[in-house]
Formats: sequence, structure tokens, C-alpha cells
Amino acid sequence: MEIVVLSGAGLSAESGLKTFRDNGGLWEEYDVYQVATPEAWHANPELVTRFYNQRRKQLFESEPNLAHRLIAKLEAYHSVQVVTQNIDDFHERAGSTRVLHLHGELKKLRSTVDDTLVYEAGHWEVKMGDVCARGSQLRPHIVWFGESVPQMPVAEKMVREADFLLIVGTSLSVYPAAGLAYLARPEANIVLIDPAEVTHDLGEVRHIREKAGAGMQCVYEELSAL
Ligand code: OAD
Repeated sequence: MEIVVLSGAGLSAESGLKTFRDNGGLWEEYDVYQVATPEAWHANPELVTRFYNQRRKQLFESEPNLAHRLIAKLEAYHSVQVVTQNIDDFHERAGSTRVLHLHGELKKLRSTVDDTLVYEAGHWEVKMGDVCARGSQLRPHIVWFGESVPQMPVAEKMVREADFLLIVGTSLSVYPAAGLAYLARPEANIVLIDPAEVTHDLGEVRHIREKAGAGMQCVYEELSAL
């Protein structure tokens, strides 16, 4: 069976990373327009760099959780493609081998003059003055609000071809990524894991109202027995 996992910040919550829109979420603490837009970068690159340094430091100090591990373990039984809005590398560290990052990767940095110059951040801290091979300041390899999402066509094809769409820990409030949830074939099964009430009309969806770990345990037991 071809499974596509569409994941969001809630999946990494049990690893200790904050979500964006829950109570106490990141966008309550920070103004998204001051830290996650191209305008913010132009106005105050130091502040943006500091914001992502904090996120990266926490990521280096955190581990994938049970839900990431169970998603990876499903590869023993099915063809599993992860499409994640998350910028952490927990899916990879848990063992998933097919991971598409829609919104970029926190542990990568890129040139501000040449998009093709992308580097691994070996350390959490990026300093002003850290430059690419062409001498320009390195920026986070993140898709900011107002920037295009280059991986969307690839992700759309993956979702359209899925037999099973597993949506975990996303409020489905940020487009175009959220639109993926509506692209599954009518005969595909859609399961959504989220402890919160869900108001989107995704058609016939089974909502498992649990945190990612408990919800994935239930889904893993079912899918590994098929
Ligand atoms: P949100 O913060 O919008 O949504 C998190 C979802 O996870 C909510 O529906 C919560 O109810 C749910 N949740 C909370 N704790 C959970 C848990 N333990 N287990 C499972 N679910 C839980 O995060 P995203 O939907 O990922 O983009 O946000 C999408 C994008 O908005 C992000 O990729 C980021 C952000 O701004 C950029 O920065 C470009």
C-alpha cells in the first residue's frame, strides 16, 4: 500500500518543540512578520538569525519521539512517503527514508545570492558574517511566508497517488501545504491524528483525537497487520 504521511508541528510536540498556533505556540511569542518573511530578513537579519538559531539549538538538543519512530517502522510493511511541513529532521533521525520537506530544513543554510548553494549547519549557531562560497550572508534554508513552495508539485503528485493519507499534527491553516489534504483520491483512506477538534471538511475522514504518539500506536497496530 502507498501511504503518504502529511505531518505538522504537532508531531514534534512530544519531542519538546513548540507548535505554532496552539496556546503558548511560537506565533504567540513572536510576530511571524518579524521573523519569518523575506521583509523581516531585509529589515533585521540579526533578529531572524537569532530566532532560527534558538530553534536550531533546541533541535540539536532534542530527539524524535514515538510517533516519528512508528512512522519510520511502517516502512517494513508498506511504501511510505513523508511530506512534512516541519523543518526539524526528526523523521530522518527516526529512520524514515523518503521525506519531502515542504517548508525547508532548519539544519541547512543557504546563500542569499545563489539558491543552489545549500550547506549543512554542523552547529546550531549561525553568526552574522558567516558567508557562502560567493561571499554572501547565509540565511536559513526555510520557506518563509510570501515565498513560493518549490516542492508543491512533487508533493501534490505523491498525495494524488496515495492509497492512504495519514495527517498528523497540523492545523491545516497554512496554504499551499494545507491544500494537499484535499487532493487524495476518493477511494483513498484518510486518517487524521490531532488531539484538537477539527473543523475542515475533508470528506470522509477518520479523526483519531489523540496526541501523535498514542494516535500513531493505534494506526501502526492496524497498518502493520494488513
Ligand atoms: P500549527 O501550530 O498550526 O498546528 C499544530 C497542530 O498540531 C494543531 O492542530 C494542534 O491541535 C496539533 N497538536 C498539538 N499537540 C499535538 C500532539 N502532541 N500530537 C498531535 N497533534 C498535536 O502547526 P502546522 O500546521 O505544522 O510554516 O503549521 C504549518 C506551518 O505554519 C508551519 O510549517 C510553519 C508555520 O508558520 C512556516 O514557518 C513557513
